[in-house]
Amino acid sequence: MNIELSEEQKAVRDAARDFAQNVLKPGVIDRDRDMRFPTEEVKQLGELGFLGMMVDPKYGGGGMDAVSYVLAMEEISKVDASCSVIMSVNNSLVCWGLETFGTEEQKQKYLIPLAKGEQIGAFCLSEPEAGSDATSQRTTAIDMGDHYLVNGTKNWITNGNSAGVYLVIAQTDVEKGHKGINALIMTKDMEGFTVGAKEDKMGIRASDTHTLIFNDVKVPKENRIGEDGFGFKFAMKTLGGGRIGIASQALGIAAGAYELAVQYSKERQAFGKEISKHQAIQFKLADMATQVEAARLLCLKAAWEKDAGLDYTQSGSMAKLFASDIAQKVTTEAVQVHGGYGYVKEYHVERLMRDAKITQIYEGTSEVQKIVISRGLLK
Ligand code: CAA
Repeated sequence: MNIELSEEQKAVRDAARDFAQNVLKPGVIDRDRDMRFPTEEVKQLGELGFLGMMVDPKYGGGGMDAVSYVLAMEEISKVDASCSVIMSVNNSLVCWGLETFGTEEQKQKYLIPLAKGEQIGAFCLSEPEAGSDATSQRTTAIDMGDHYLVNGTKNWITNGNSAGVYLVIAQTDVEKGHKGINALIMTKDMEGFTVGAKEDKMGIRASDTHTLIFNDVKVPKENRIGEDGFGFKFAMKTLGGGRIGIASQALGIAAGAYELAVQYSKERQAFGKEISKHQAIQFKLADMATQVEAARLLCLKAAWEKDAGLDYTQSGSMAKLFASDIAQKVTTEAVQVHGGYGYVKEYHVERLMRDAKITQIYEGTSEVQKIVISRGLLK
């Protein structure tokens, strides 16, 4: 793996950093408190090309590599993890899934506006009774000849209300188990499609997470992605790349908290000197820096493997497992370094600590990552 960043990669990282620090940071505390979706900020993310980063320019994307994506995700997540999950779902799950497996017509109709950031997408796999056990889909897509009739409920859907395009995983033939599952492109204007309750969450509060309800929704056959029965594999392959995105989000949350802790430790005085001059704080910072750097290397390795056309299933899951665990540790330590100030909203680290938790849960829990990693090791 070559870990020397190119000039282009550094420019992407710097642009993301500027955007995060200058545009996202000023309102991030208010959006988190009010659970306010960052409509204007997401529009600007799209205009800067951060919503379709890896998509071929012929479909409106930035044509960038996965390493650049990791760098941008880290910078955005240092400041605003609500914004970065919106960005990650659109880039890695929806755009990548459509570009890799969609038909030319599907790409023209759905991918181009998503890659340009004119619309955002949602990836709809989780259900009330199918989280980690993703083969147990209860949402049905019954084959009616020229269309599928879709019924069921999806839970915890990121971009649930703000999306224009939804990739929905549903069971067509229960007898065939995971081989009877399909992935369908749906839109909110389809009759029988209802956006349900918005979740009041612990973290990533400015992202809109909703239940979706489908009641006899007619989805044309041409909206199916891939061959009949490809839906489960579509979900698994797409989530493989998604996990690099969430690993980078966890990395960014940790790195953001670490940087705030360093800054604070140089300002805060205790026992007659800056707290950074006390070994108790220095040891904490050393541990945090080491964990952040290790997570960064795992994220970059997974991205590098993706760019090199190698199988990145294992490395993506390793990056997500490790980065989400250290995000918990580093953000908790960052609050500790800040003392009482860390426990109040103004200093940002309490939000990062709350945001960190979800990275161990979505796009496959830590336990799911261990299943993926150990199966790869033992096969
Ligand atoms: N690539 C291609 N095919 C794959 C694959 C992959 N990465 N992983 C599995 N498959 C295939 C298998 O080869 C198998 O196919 P065959 O029968 O033809 O061999 C088939 O899929 C079934 O695989 P498994 O037997 O391994 O399936 P399983 O039921 O044991 O599940 C699991 C494995 C890893 C636990 C999987 O269910 C899983 O990843 N669960 C977690 C789901 C998840 O991540 N949900 C997140 C929701 S999305 C989200 O959070 C987005 C958001 O809003 C932020």
